[in-house]
Amino acid sequence: MIDPASIRQRYLEYMRDRGHVVIGRAPLVLNDDPTTLFTSSGMQPLLPYLLGEEHPEGRRLANSQVCLRTQDIEEVGDNSHTTCFEMLGNWSLGDYFKEDQLAWFFDFLIDVVGLDPDKLYVTCFRGEESRGIAKDEAAALILQDLYRRRGIEAEIVDLKSAEEAARVGMGTGRIFYYDDAENWWSRGGGIEQTPLGDPAGGDCEFFFDFGEERHDEAKWGKPHPASDSGRFLEIGNSVFMEYQHKKEGFVPLSAKNVDFGGGLERLMAAALGEPDVFKTGLLWPLVDKLQTLTDVSYEERPEPFRVIADHMRAAAWLAADGVVPSNKEQGYVMRRLLRRAQLKAIQLGIEAPLSEELLPIVCRIYAADYPEFAQGEELADVIRKEEKAFRQRLRAGLREFGKATEGGVLDGAALFRLYDTCGFPKELSLEEAGRRGLTVEAGALAEFDRLMVEQRKRSQTAGAGEFKGGLADEDPMTVRYHTATHLMYKALKLVLGDDVIQRGSNITSERLRFDFSYGQKVNPEQIARIEAIVNEQIEADLPVSWEVMATAEALAAGVLGAFGDKYGPKVKVYSVGRAGEEPYSKEICGGPHVARTSELGEGGKRFKIIKEEACSAGVRRVKAVLAIPA
Ligand code: SER
Repeated sequence: MIDPASIRQRYLEYMRDRGHVVIGRAPLVLNDDPTTLFTSSGMQPLLPYLLGEEHPEGRRLANSQVCLRTQDIEEVGDNSHTTCFEMLGNWSLGDYFKEDQLAWFFDFLIDVVGLDPDKLYVTCFRGEESRGIAKDEAAALILQDLYRRRGIEAEIVDLKSAEEAARVGMGTGRIFYYDDAENWWSRGGGIEQTPLGDPAGGDCEFFFDFGEERHDEAKWGKPHPASDSGRFLEIGNSVFMEYQHKKEGFVPLSAKNVDFGGGLERLMAAALGEPDVFKTGLLWPLVDKLQTLTDVSYEERPEPFRVIADHMRAAAWLAADGVVPSNKEQGYVMRRLLRRAQLKAIQLGIEAPLSEELLPIVCRIYAADYPEFAQGEELADVIRKEEKAFRQRLRAGLREFGKATEGGVLDGAALFRLYDTCGFPKELSLEEAGRRGLTVEAGALAEFDRLMVEQRKRSQTAGAGEFKGGLADEDPMTVRYHTATHLMYKALKLVLGDDVIQRGSNITSERLRFDFSYGQKVNPEQIARIEAIVNEQIEADLPVSWEVMATAEALAAGVLGAFGDKYGPKVKVYSVGRAGEEPYSKEICGGPHVARTSELGEGGKRFKIIKEEACSAGVRRVKAVLAIPA
């Protein structure tokens, strides 16, 4: 059996041996990708390439991508959910397809990780005829053959849906078909949820069986792989990304892609034969440390230990990628993670600051593989400050609690208000009420739940909007304007001087808008020169490419960035220019961009600045379009 700690490295070697280039991870916050708050899967930074853009490193890529999924922050506490995790990934950009992908991963699990093939189950997509998407019989047959080579006769069973499966059970099957709720993958979820413009496809998911005794039939119905009972754990997902969601339906992409992702912690758990990901080497040292700080044992009450370990590790990764706690967006999530961790610590009676106790351990776990954790002190500092401020707030929260319950009663509205505005959780309020001998109003919990549901609905509506715009915007004009912005930024520097620094940018499919530091009006002659330079680059048909660079190196080399932007330790740098020549422009950016600058001039379009004005003191604003000259 493999040492679980070496799975990441062994997987990357395995993929390298099969012709893959191992690419760096993207930061947790993708600069310039407005569609999501965090990198939540390995494919996300590769989106343009899955849609057909050429990747500079070729058509076989692999990496380990740190991901953060916030949708189930509140779910953390069971044995397999974490907000932050590493996803091992490999991609075929129109190169190999099902046959190789399935055989490689199957063999990897058995020959490298050392799993018993008898404990492996696989699920495939049952198709959706109404949309012209066929059942993935090809994948099922490939899998059947792979099992046969290991001496196992694998029966193929159509389970239809998870609900149906819980009713009829898996019988003696080993390969199962499910509907799109289980075996279709897009950034939004099932078929209906696939964002417009995104790539998607049916998938094959591998499950490890931790044993019948883990399944409580009374609670979960009959056992089957996609059940959440804890008996089966999904350890790898091969998505066959062969469609793009367009207005007219799911249109086959010109290249059939593979997008594979497997959770590292879960693979480690399978290797250990231990369904609890918190017992793997990437989390256990944190849990173990916590046990020394409290009288409660992990076995007795695992939930708070899991939340603290997960949240503190996630916060450390966020800090490593330059996120600072705040009241909005990424910073807000970080703040929430840190607060929740501290509240759980209070419940465990832990007095010591978590940052002091746990961050050095996180750094030790990752430092060898991720040099960003070498700067432990700095990383600890943002978290330490936040922790201190929150402790003060908690004390203030207790005072609020006193006011809210002056009448000796705690009701649902107060329970919710304390939670919502003071970050004071329900459990703590109830505990405090018990301690002070207050009455908890009958129905207070139901009222709290009702207010929570309402609030969730509000935030989901806001979250759904995140997918709109940006990459989900199908219009290639938006992408063209994005590239035009890079061309113009450089031209501004060439004409007005190096003091021009980007202060803001806003791109639609109709125009670009760009704010930059410059102390005076840009005169018509300068504008004409800027336009001419941009149009020259469009005519020159220059290729656009990107690479991942260490941030310090990129900034030292004069790569352009935006004022006030915070970058993680590594950044994606887009270059416009021919290979072997000094690029016309080099800029830190998350993409996407056109493949060649000539696309901007398609149909005889020319770049034109239509407005130049003052924006604020020392900052100018220009608007420009790509249009056919009158
Ligand atoms: N994108 C797929 C997932 O996140 C496979 O990499 O599961």
